[in-house]
Amino acid sequence: MTPATATTEPILEVTGLVKHYPLTRGILFKKQIGAVKAVDGVDFTLAKGETLGIVGESGCGKSTVARMLCNLERPTAGSIRFKGEDITKLSGRALKAVRRNIQMVFQDPYTSLNPRMTVGDIIGEPYDIHPEAAPKGDRRRRVQELLDVVGLDPEYVNRYPHQFSGGQRQRIGIARGLALRPEVIVADEPVSALDVSVQAQVINLLARLQSEFDLSYVFIAHDLSIVRHISDRVAVMYLGRIVETGRDAEIYDHPTHPYTQALLSAVPVPDPEAREQRERIILSGDVPSPTNIPSGCRFRTRCWKAQERCVREVPALAVPAVFRAASGPAAHPSACHFAEEKRVVPAE
Ligand SMILES: Nc1ncnc2c1ncn2[C@@H]1O[C@H](COP(=O)(O)OP(=O)(O)OP(=O)(O)O)[C@@H](O)[C@H]1O
Ligand code: SF4
Ligand SMILES: [Mg+2]
Repeated sequence: MTPATATTEPILEVTGLVKHYPLTRGILFKKQIGAVKAVDGVDFTLAKGETLGIVGESGCGKSTVARMLCNLERPTAGSIRFKGEDITKLSGRALKAVRRNIQMVFQDPYTSLNPRMTVGDIIGEPYDIHPEAAPKGDRRRRVQELLDVVGLDPEYVNRYPHQFSGGQRQRIGIARGLALRPEVIVADEPVSALDVSVQAQVINLLARLQSEFDLSYVFIAHDLSIVRHISDRVAVMYLGRIVETGRDAEIYDHPTHPYTQALLSAVPVPDPEAREQRERIILSGDVPSPTNIPSGCRFRTRCWKAQERCVREVPALAVPAVFRAASGPAAHPSACHFAEEKRVVPAE
């Protein structure tokens, strides 16, 4: 984790990002009957050298945001500015150049590495698309350097993925993400498939690489406890939107959105006494389908505080009026008409 350089121009600026997948009926004559609103209006910035954690339950749109950031998918609407330039409008050579700078590290180290390719070929694969990044005769040396950087023996270059543990495979995935020397890494649940003991090692590796290579991270997870130790800021997503965002201490110690409070009430607390004192908030019902998003506040069908106003009015992601006058840690954006500060996790 490095201190945020919030005063400089953001390296990434995401505005009004939307991804709707059409729902169709019929085989020959396809008729659109609705849409899966996977991402439904997301705004955030990422400063150089900063880590933004994006957290939310399964299906809330995290991976869809990640794929759009890396230009693997085009948004339905909205813009993604990389150093001021809207990458959603680029094509051809300009798009290729930007793609090099924003690389993805995937969730599952068991399925994201081709089992028939050697580790050397996997890590060096990005050089096939961007040969300018490494001259042909120099590739093997570069790949071995990358293995060393992620804490693996450079002699492993001719081995296959099945010869490695889950943690080692994720290191291979990270080495591949670094091959083109990107400025931004979008890590989509990079430790979710790993044992708890290995998770910490991979997170420490990512933190070390961040300062070594001056990287900016978007770090996605479904569990708030995982992003805490690496994020400068956190954005909490629900059903395709960000519902609360702030610096990590603001979110963990001064959450004001009921959904964030519910998520926090489920994070593991190591101290047994503190665990006893903690209030558990159990959300009723399932997450609504992204094809049928509730009116007003999209969280209202599961919110214990919901009132008539929540059915009618969409809450904006802004500093709630009650906290606006104060400049304390509760004064951060929260999309709730009735935002209230509530400490859920005991102080560390
Ligand atoms: N290509 C697609 N076509 C239709 N719907 C899609 C497509 N990709 C994703 N979705 C839907 O969009 C929603 C968001 O999916 P996404 O994978 O972004 O969620 P997620 O937050 O990454 O979830 P998880 O934690 O399970 O990885 C889900 O309802 C998913 O089913
Ligand atoms: S706006 Fe209403 S329904 Fe939505 S989180 Fe706040 S209290 Fe709950
Ligand atoms: Mg996902």
